[in-house]
Amino acid sequence: MSYLYGVVLAAGQGTRMKSKHSKVMHALCGKPMVGHVVDGLKETGVQQIILVVGHKAEEVKAYLKDQVEYVTQEEQKGTAHAVLQVGPILANKKGTTLIVMGDSPLLTSKTLGALIEEHQKKNQAATILTTKLENPTGYGRIIRDGNGNVLRIVEEKDASAKEKEIQEVNTGTYCFDNEKLFFALSKVKNDNVQGEYYLTDVIEILRNEGEKIGAYQTIDANETIGINDRIALAKAEEILRTQIVEQHMKNGVTIVDPKTTYIEKGVVIGSDTIIYPNTYLRGNTTIGHDCTIGPNVELIDVIVNDDVKITHSVIYSSKIASKAIIGPFAYIRPGSEIGESVKVGDFVEIKNSKIGKESKVPHLSYIGDTTIGENVNIGAGTITVNYDGYRKHRTEIGDRSFIGCNTNLVAPVTVGNDVYVAAGSTITENVPDFSLAIARERQVNKEGYVKKIRERNNSKES
Ligand code: UD1
Ligand code: MG
Repeated sequence: MSYLYGVVLAAGQGTRMKSKHSKVMHALCGKPMVGHVVDGLKETGVQQIILVVGHKAEEVKAYLKDQVEYVTQEEQKGTAHAVLQVGPILANKKGTTLIVMGDSPLLTSKTLGALIEEHQKKNQAATILTTKLENPTGYGRIIRDGNGNVLRIVEEKDASAKEKEIQEVNTGTYCFDNEKLFFALSKVKNDNVQGEYYLTDVIEILRNEGEKIGAYQTIDANETIGINDRIALAKAEEILRTQIVEQHMKNGVTIVDPKTTYIEKGVVIGSDTIIYPNTYLRGNTTIGHDCTIGPNVELIDVIVNDDVKITHSVIYSSKIASKAIIGPFAYIRPGSEIGESVKVGDFVEIKNSKIGKESKVPHLSYIGDTTIGENVNIGAGTITVNYDGYRKHRTEIGDRSFIGCNTNLVAPVTVGNDVYVAAGSTITENVPDFSLAIARERQVNKEGYVKKIRERNNSKES
């Protein structure tokens, strides 16, 4: 097999997106389009990837970093002009060049591989990836002769009424003999409705040179969608989302309502886990076996072990050990480690804290910058007072301690093992092991006082 180059066109403004961002940076299932495209080329085995950037180039480079090489197209004069910018790197090289549009993120390596195979098997100068669409509006059409040979591609805006009826479209993905590609590019003119240098014209130029050209038609039209506006973006998102959830279902995960389950690429879920509706699993999230997640859960970069239950909760950048029960209505913020069989209940916020095995924070608490040992019970309304207006301070609580309701733990503070803290205490000093800490006013009962008040007020009224 000859050396395989990949060129991604990503310099266009994407006018139809009406956005201040580069079109190719709009995300699908959490990843910018161009990220999907580059991943697809890598999976296909492309050996050198060159990205043509222009409009909002910095944004694209900041995202892809050194995964690819860049060339800049200063002025966006069309897709052929964009490929020409790669000339200084590729023009005289022998090999096969795969060109893809940065706005076609759903193409799979399977389809790209099949296109390359067809191109090389038939020894063609150019092979176009095409597909048939019910509604081909907006795409370039493939013009064939009576024998089915590809003649040229005509853009929607330049097509006659008759040509517009053609349903076979150009997906914007091509395989070229690299040297022949650059030879043909130098001959492209901009005498069309848009006044642009069209890459599509290369096909007719090569044909007129007597070169062998062809098309490989894929039946999966969903894959080939080119995203030009936000309606297409939503359509593509739905296609990708469906593919992702179906893959998880094939792997043994129950997804109760695939339409309202949002799982980003790369998320791992163990078998016999059940995902309830309106759940978002994002970033580098990994979920173990036999878990119940949802309804209404958002996890970003969370590692969840086996047999965990999470409902109506939000968790970011944290680890949840097996058999933990989270929610409803818990908010676990970055840097938290929730231990085995821990319960984190309703209206509890946890931040940058470690909670030991079998401990419970069942209701209405804020636990920040805290280490809690094993078998600890945190009463309702307990607050770790971790911030003095300048710095954050840590709270330590030992094993088997019992913190009464409505306790303030003013950090830095250490509560030992086997401690009882009386409800309503404001703890400002360390508590030694096996102690009972009480830090509140003593109660005073003024007996009969209510009667006195009533008598006084009643006598004033009369
Ligand atoms: C293009 C094809 C069309 C095909 C469709 C498939 C041409 C002339 N037309 O149309 O036949 O059916 O894709 O989706 O090629 N770009 C640059 N520099 C430029 C212009 C564009 O880098 O000067 C990039 C854009 O960023 C984009 C890609 O090329 O990623 C395609 O450009 P776009 O304007 O979306 O072309 P389409 O009208 O979709
Ligand atoms: Mg497009």
